[in-house]
Amino acid sequence: MISKKLEAALNEQINAEFWSGYLYLSMSCHFEAQGLNGVANWFRIQFQEEQAHALALIDYLHARGGQVLLGSIANVPTSWASVKEAFLATYEHEQKVTGLINALYGLAEEEKDYATRQKLNAFVAEQVEEEENVTHILDSLNLIGEDRSGMYQLDLELAKRTYTAPAL
Ligand code: FEO
Repeated sequence: MISKKLEAALNEQINAEFWSGYLYLSMSCHFEAQGLNGVANWFRIQFQEEQAHALALIDYLHARGGQVLLGSIANVPTSWASVKEAFLATYEHEQKVTGLINALYGLAEEEKDYATRQKLNAFVAEQVEEEENVTHILDSLNLIGEDRSGMYQLDLELAKRTYTAPAL
């Protein structure tokens, strides 16, 4: 049985994962409307990944006899001045999520809940990957600068991203 403190913290994280998903879906819709279908595809897959993160935590909480309480999802931004601005916002957001996962990990240690700590190991690794992926795209965007043909190529590249369920 999981402690009430960890149960509440995991419920907060589930909400944060859904919020992240909602944020990326909003980005996807924004860039789809601008004809940047590859960028839209990348963010749509990011949305799917965030849903998978939330579902993994839901399944885990159930497995530990905890109660899942789904709260409302707060509003997300709906427009970005450029692709680079959206990816910078994504990078900042993922760093924030890394902080949340680290805090959860710390709480699991405090509570001497080794099962939760072990579960969170996969999330710690996942955050390294999340930040790395966005860093690579930001590197490309910095090289491209204002070059429209470069942006066209990057859009084609991002269109190739396919969904693979994260190993959680
Ligand atoms: Fe669920 Fe993007 O971290």
